[in-house]
Amino acid sequence: MTITNSLIISSYNIKDSWKTAPTRWGHPLHKMVSRIGSFPPALAHWFIIKFSRPGDVILDPFSGKGTAPLEACLTGRIGIGNDLAPDAFVVTHAKVRPATLSEIYEWIRVARASIKRSAIHIDLDEVPDEVKVFYHKETLKQILLVRRYLLDKFDNISTFIKGLMLGILHGPCEYHLSVKCSHSFSMSPNYIKKYVRKNKLKKPKRDVFECLVKKALRVLAEGIPPVRGLAFNNDAKKLPLDDDSVDLIITSPPYLNVLTTAWDNWLRLWFLNHDYKDVEKKLAQTSSLSIYLNHMKDFLGEFYRVLKQNKACVVVLGDMKARVKNGKERSLVDAVSEVGESIGFNVKMLVDDDIKSQNKYLAQHKHRNHGLSREKIIIFEKGSAPIFDHDPLWSLQISG
Ligand SMILES: C[S@@+](CC[C@H](N)C(=O)[O-])C[C@H]1O[C@@H](n2cnc3c(N)ncnc32)[C@H](O)[C@@H]1O
Repeated sequence: MTITNSLIISSYNIKDSWKTAPTRWGHPLHKMVSRIGSFPPALAHWFIIKFSRPGDVILDPFSGKGTAPLEACLTGRIGIGNDLAPDAFVVTHAKVRPATLSEIYEWIRVARASIKRSAIHIDLDEVPDEVKVFYHKETLKQILLVRRYLLDKFDNISTFIKGLMLGILHGPCEYHLSVKCSHSFSMSPNYIKKYVRKNKLKKPKRDVFECLVKKALRVLAEGIPPVRGLAFNNDAKKLPLDDDSVDLIITSPPYLNVLTTAWDNWLRLWFLNHDYKDVEKKLAQTSSLSIYLNHMKDFLGEFYRVLKQNKACVVVLGDMKARVKNGKERSLVDAVSEVGESIGFNVKMLVDDDIKSQNKYLAQHKHRNHGLSREKIIIFEKGSAPIFDHDPLWSLQISG
């Protein structure tokens, strides 16, 4: 199907939409890590307020850094996140089941003492060279000790500390453990080597525990959400959820032609003891439209199964024109809408917007101008999903 004009709106015509929120709007816990491909908290907030009520279950089956489930917990809903990438799972889990500051101080006290007592000898020869280029020797030794201490622990506090570690592992600030580099993605070791040499950068000697405290103080500056959620590490084609158990899905699936999600997080994955190449093989990443649509059929089928009747499924898509036979192009949004309808969803509405260059989701160091320049959001409904207009702050008033 081709979506008719009557269904299409621009968020600029929605009074007080997420586009009107100040830059960097949101609870500081959203800033635990920066990760390429994430949507803004204000966007998740707006759809949660419009399409659900307090106490409802909100699911993001491709939760990335956990923006939608965290926003759900902050607004009194039960946020459930799922992501197949281990780094994304850890951060989502950390956000929906966070530790308090006092728990973190206690964890540090116990971990410091235990690491000291065990007097483990760290042999840096066993560390891959590509990891070594980022760190001062002493910092790296401490990272390895904390890593070893954390790896076989999966309770809420340990997972929160892992999330904090992913947030300080690389970046430009005084609490980041690496030489100055991007926080959003793990840069290539060769690039870092040259960059350090050219700019005569010094690898900083940091105390990992002090940096953890600095990061924790920032992300917990406004406390923790009133509600706890859940996080899963499954393929989104098979969610560990009952039929008809979810009140709202808000998600952005893997983008067509974006093949670097695991590589972009290779250092974080190393810290969690995963090889990015193994993770890469599992993720749904492809440049082929037909393979992509087959994935979407399985994903949307699963979302339809877990969603309750008369509820919405909000899918944030990049605006991609996919090449088909005879050099022709096809709108990805039309193709995905058609897949959704074949499963039983109705298309309720389509939001079609441009994204300012500084807000592009996928901008990277070498592809700064290649981020998504349009955002398309398909609002599917199973049955007929009402829009709740009860939030005095953001109301759905479409003009023009
Ligand atoms: C566009 S990102 C989602 C970003 C997220 N909305 C945020 O704000 O951070 C897509 C996510 O899908 C995940 N992914 C890819 N294939 C998957 C699969 N088969 N099952 C579950 N997650 C998958 C990737 O790891 C990635 O985090």
